[in-house]
Amino acid sequence: MTPGQDMSSPAKDDAAARVAGLRAQLHRHAHSYYTLDAPEIPDAEYDRLYQALQALETQHPELASADSPTRRVGAKPLAMFASVRHTVPMLSIRTETDTEASGAKNFDSRMRKELGLSAADPPVEYVAELKFDGLAMSLRYEDGVLVQAATRGDGEVGEDVTQNMRTIKQIPLWLNPHPNPLPQAGEGMNPEAGSLSLGEGAGVRVPAVLEVRGEVYMRRADFEALNEAQRELIAGGAKGEKTFVNPRNAAAGGVRQLDPAIAARRRLSFFAYGIGELTPPGAGGPVFDTHLQLLLTLKSWGFPVAEQTARAYGASELIAFHQAIGAARDGLPYDIDGVVYKVNSLACQKTLGFVSREPRWAVAHKYPAQEQITTVVAIDVQVGRTGKLTPVAKLAPVFVSGVTVTNATLHNEDEARRKDVRVGDTVIVRRAGDVIPEVVGVLLERRTGDALPFTMPRHCPVCGSDALRLEGEADYRCSGGLFCAAQRKEAILHFAHRRAVEVEGLGDKLVEQLVDAGLVRTLPDLYKLGFATLAQLERMAGKSANKLLTALEKSKQTTLPRFVFGLGIRHVGDSTAKALALHFGNLAAVMAATPERLLQVADVGPVVATSIHTFFEQPHNREVVEQLRACGVTWSEGEPATGVAPKPLAGKTFVITGTLPTLGRDEAKDRLEAAGAKVAGSVSKKTDYVLAGADAGSKLAKAQELGVAVIDEASMLALLGSASAA
Ligand code: IVH
Repeated sequence: MTPGQDMSSPAKDDAAARVAGLRAQLHRHAHSYYTLDAPEIPDAEYDRLYQALQALETQHPELASADSPTRRVGAKPLAMFASVRHTVPMLSIRTETDTEASGAKNFDSRMRKELGLSAADPPVEYVAELKFDGLAMSLRYEDGVLVQAATRGDGEVGEDVTQNMRTIKQIPLWLNPHPNPLPQAGEGMNPEAGSLSLGEGAGVRVPAVLEVRGEVYMRRADFEALNEAQRELIAGGAKGEKTFVNPRNAAAGGVRQLDPAIAARRRLSFFAYGIGELTPPGAGGPVFDTHLQLLLTLKSWGFPVAEQTARAYGASELIAFHQAIGAARDGLPYDIDGVVYKVNSLACQKTLGFVSREPRWAVAHKYPAQEQITTVVAIDVQVGRTGKLTPVAKLAPVFVSGVTVTNATLHNEDEARRKDVRVGDTVIVRRAGDVIPEVVGVLLERRTGDALPFTMPRHCPVCGSDALRLEGEADYRCSGGLFCAAQRKEAILHFAHRRAVEVEGLGDKLVEQLVDAGLVRTLPDLYKLGFATLAQLERMAGKSANKLLTALEKSKQTTLPRFVFGLGIRHVGDSTAKALALHFGNLAAVMAATPERLLQVADVGPVVATSIHTFFEQPHNREVVEQLRACGVTWSEGEPATGVAPKPLAGKTFVITGTLPTLGRDEAKDRLEAAGAKVAGSVSKKTDYVLAGADAGSKLAKAQELGVAVIDEASMLALLGSASAA
């Protein structure tokens, strides 16, 4: 039975009572879920209540009400925002630019002086809060019902954004007429635990008018999700869509959306930190003695109040708060740009009063900014130890989060394209905690130059070898592994590895020294080292020099698989090296093999084949191989194994879907292709197997529909196992 079916001839009062009851329940559960983060009922139950209310409201349009939970979305787009004059102006706070401890000391000294306190007097009591990085908002409640939401504007006149604010689930549509425990002065907050909790106390009635002041912001996760969705829209060809540079920017865009349906999708959040108008001030309405009482009451009325809010006595506790929050800053799920100190006693606040548009009793104590604006001087491509090419933006020096930044990574080709950073651009650079600096976005409106979009070089900027981006990989890599100066140390260490030609005693410290001193540039140089040269190295007595020379001598007698593995070709592990040696029998044949020939080797799929082929195409790599042989590195060579490696999965078509427990999708694809299978993108009647991992979706359903065999990773490995055994 649908929720409305028993309502064919309901008494109107009955319907009204049910509607009221459902609204109250939904209100309470939304608060538990969105504000307290402690749902009391499963989502499905919430949905059921919601649908029941929707059905009743449809049946009884006369019961419709703007403050119904069903109306959080659904208001019509506006042509423009109406102006709202604030009955109590929305002020800003003085900012303490000194980000060090003295910022808190200065404020405390000023307060003591203004309050006429002497050194003998006890410390001033403050409330320390987070300074949220969003937009100020004023929410007006009349008789407990949200009637208007307005932006700060110029402090006197803001914009009416009520429709959009209604879509924020953390903002109560009505004040919670709770049993009203009001904490007594000196109660309710546990500064040690740093969290707000209500004590027992006198009741507070819902005021006739209440303006709640606070910050609308966007959580970082919601920001990332929004940008991801925006990127998809853009990729899908949507016009006029853009990504956002930071959560504040995205929140601002959401607040000022004329279409509330779009605002709702922005997933904004809210924290309350104060009030504007409050009537009646006396006459049985709430009277507060302290700012803390006020916050706790706001909390009990249903508003989110940050749990890091703390009571603090004197400068030393303010400093401790500033430091503790500074250390915790990067772990918060949202951005803050500082902390705010407020004198707790409202009587003292009154005494202190205002200077121009700022209260004397509050100050914002900032942290070093994590984002700054600068310009891109150049885009370089750096080559890492393993040959990875990374585009790096060279920046006009800028001080971010406590350090001067001149470089910011652009990670890889796709990231650089996505951000479309060009030489000459003005960009936002972010550095949070110890994380490496990043270009968050380009200020497109400031692009003046005619710089072209960045493209990755097709050759290694260090050695000139081909740079290659293998299928399924994000990075370009230099294929001149044996010759490239950037990869020297790594190449030598790999060559000397126990499973490669094995040079006992040649570890990373020694390689570091040999390369840094210019004694070894490429592998053959190892075999030209003499006793005198080695013995003069740090931590190298005559005995260890002799040992190394013996180890080098010994390493010359090796095997073909060890040698091939030792070359450090990407994706050629020791088992692939063995397969190559077995298949081709001698090095010349491996070096001359076309990708097609390589594909015939058991264990080699298209990605590995391309990698091997490109490696041996590089003249420098071939030279190094020749020189190593000239130095006396040898192995016994034989005839190629007869025939072509069996391809037992030849003719079979696979489709991969979901997340496999151990193999990456590309790896699984490569292994299947190496065994001769074809890997297709979609399931059809021609599909032989669907390889399904966790969270497989429509492809799995399709397979079941068509009766295609579905296997898991273990079964696939078993198929491959029997394949290579065959
Ligand atoms: S109190 C009368 N407390 O910072 C004091 N403001 O210039 C009014 N802000 O745009 C502000 N976190 O939106 C206060 N815990 C906090 C705050 C906070 C962020 C914002 C506020 C305003 C600016 C102050």
